[in-house]
Amino acid sequence: MNFELKNLSWASCEQTACDVLILLVSDSAKPAQPAKAISSLPALQQLMLSALAQDDLDTATGKLISCYRPAGIAARQVILVGAGQASEKDIARACATAFAACKIPSSVKSAQVLLCLAEINDVSGSSLQAAMQAAAASSYVYTHTKPKSEARKLSKVTINLASAAQVKALANDLQEGHALISGVELAKEWGNRPANHATPTMLAKAAQGIAAGKSPVRCEVLGPKEVAKLKMGSFMAVAQGSAEPLRFIVLKYQGAGKAVQPTVLVGKGITFDTGGISIKPAAEMDEMKFDMCGAASVLGVFQALSVLKPKINVIGLIPSCENMPSHNAVKPGDVVTSMSGQTIEILNTDAEGRLILCDALTYAERFKPAAVVDIATLTGACVVALGAVRSGLFSADDDLATQLLKAGETSQDLAWRMPLDDDYAEGLKTNFADVANVAGRMGGAITAAKFLQRFATQYPWAHLDIAGTAWKSGAAKGATGRPVPLLMKFLLNFQQKALLAGKKTARAAIK
Ligand code: BES
Ligand code: MN
Ligand code: ZN
Repeated sequence: MNFELKNLSWASCEQTACDVLILLVSDSAKPAQPAKAISSLPALQQLMLSALAQDDLDTATGKLISCYRPAGIAARQVILVGAGQASEKDIARACATAFAACKIPSSVKSAQVLLCLAEINDVSGSSLQAAMQAAAASSYVYTHTKPKSEARKLSKVTINLASAAQVKALANDLQEGHALISGVELAKEWGNRPANHATPTMLAKAAQGIAAGKSPVRCEVLGPKEVAKLKMGSFMAVAQGSAEPLRFIVLKYQGAGKAVQPTVLVGKGITFDTGGISIKPAAEMDEMKFDMCGAASVLGVFQALSVLKPKINVIGLIPSCENMPSHNAVKPGDVVTSMSGQTIEILNTDAEGRLILCDALTYAERFKPAAVVDIATLTGACVVALGAVRSGLFSADDDLATQLLKAGETSQDLAWRMPLDDDYAEGLKTNFADVANVAGRMGGAITAAKFLQRFATQYPWAHLDIAGTAWKSGAAKGATGRPVPLLMKFLLNFQQKALLAGKKTARAAIK
């Protein structure tokens, strides 16, 4: 899908041959006094002004009117959509509704949209990216296991801005938007594929695909033997019940000098979570194919990095396996030894995400990271707490937490900070190991984070619980590609800003 920025006059807008012309109209577009001599104005401007004057067009965000072949305009469909105060959120919403209202006849195979933002003053970089993402999200189609379905129709979006200066000023944001979309779509694609089409081996192949050819990304894949040698006893315990061999995927992107400490992303890659011997109920179990959305978001970030090539260093770690019941499966009460040396009593085999992540968190130490962020569809409790709107963010490091929250706000991929008081770890105590893998039912998202925190003592760490945000259920069932936008914004802002210089105090706080 192609995007370009232009600065067109009203007259050239209406003459542009395209399938749909979308015009965003903010509250400020309404003239204080009715415009005089309206009939001498270009047809598109007349349309907007008369719709405003007669209150046919409400500029509240997302309210729209759609016209079929209006006189004097080349587009087949013209959509005028309210953009309220024209905040980033308004623009995202207005674009999402407008793109959803685009009617492309079946005869058209490759559709073009002219998105006119010229009535919006000072379109920001994040507003532009929000508009681009709305266009991409509305036109994404999953086809992998639907060979007869039609691929994406929308092939080109021309974005019209108020001035040539804006076109120039937003050139970098356009590139970033492109990269971001390619990352989000890769994350969606792998999230959506059913578990028999997205095994740990296939995920590893996808990672190798991102690193293939001239890509600036490098990829290394470890199998059961290498993982055993590393003594990842906790990860191996989850994988042992499945016929599918585990994979530990290591991705490296080096855009800055070698001396620059990398940021490490760790993604939960359970390609299917049955719960294991602590088996889940049948209802909606299919959705546990999405239990690798943390891993998919890491793949998405590396895809975006390979397109954008920023001057930063990033490592991606993906422990991937299935969680299955079988005669080989780990049993409730079994005690395993993690790579860190800590022993873990597995009281519930359905709390498997933390068991694979803890070994990856230990593995991360070797990179001497500036920060480590793990991303996981970790707990149903997080869905209860925050629903599908915000991901749960856990970090003892205030700077890191602030940066992640801010990145979420600018990319409209929101998170919410949750507590990490030590009192929450009480329930993880056991008579039979250093730690148990579950506490009681209460505060389940937090006790899971407390478990992980024990393994993330050597660097500033944050955990994103994306159980509620990584996919949608019901009629719109599908992966969202979240939190790729948040992570990309975070990585680009973080830019090794020596955020964590002199971080010894924060580290002490985690211990
Ligand atoms: N993958 C699930 C978490 C999950 C459940 C995400 C439902 C989205 C929707 C995770 O592995 C899990 O099963 N967690 C358990 C933990 C419990 C056994 C302490 C849960 O949340 O029920
Ligand atoms: Mn589980
Ligand atoms: Zn799981």
